[in-house]
Amino acid sequence: MLFDEAVKEKMEDFYDREEEINRLREGVLRGRRLILVLGVRRIGKSSLVKVTLNSIDVPFLYIDVRSVYRSHNYISSYALHYMVDDLISNLVASGKWSRIIDYIKHIRGISVYGVEVKN
Ligand SMILES: Nc1ncnc2c1ncn2[C@@H]1O[C@H](COP(=O)(O)OP(=O)(O)O)[C@@H](O)[C@H]1O
Ligand SMILES: [Mg+2]
Repeated sequence: MLFDEAVKEKMEDFYDREEEINRLREGVLRGRRLILVLGVRRIGKSSLVKVTLNSIDVPFLYIDVRSVYRSHNYISSYALHYMVDDLISNLVASGKWSRIIDYIKHIRGISVYGVEVKN
């Protein structure tokens, strides 16, 4: 719904940001390590991020650290750890990472600079 006051999640509800969507999508698919989405409040930053990530086939975790800040007045690594842990559990349960998990299941061991761990 176009005039819904919530953060938009779907492409069809988000208008006139094709250029920004393409630039963000390009950055994510190229594996850029840092992407900044900057702008004044309520300009559509969160919507841009969600709509774009929902439109491409990559697993992602969306973390709004403001909720941690609001409840603790600071952002502790402990609170972040639990948030990420929770989100990963939900993502795994949703089946979105099933391909990665299937792949990991077939790994018999790893070797780093001669140090080897085998199952
Ligand atoms: N291009 C757009 N199309 C549709 N709705 C938009 C657009 N940009 C912003 N909005 C709406 O404006 C409000 C603020 O957007 P939001 O993504 O929360 O902004 P920000 O994260 O920059 O504060 C939300 O209701 C959102 O749905
Ligand atoms: Mg926002």
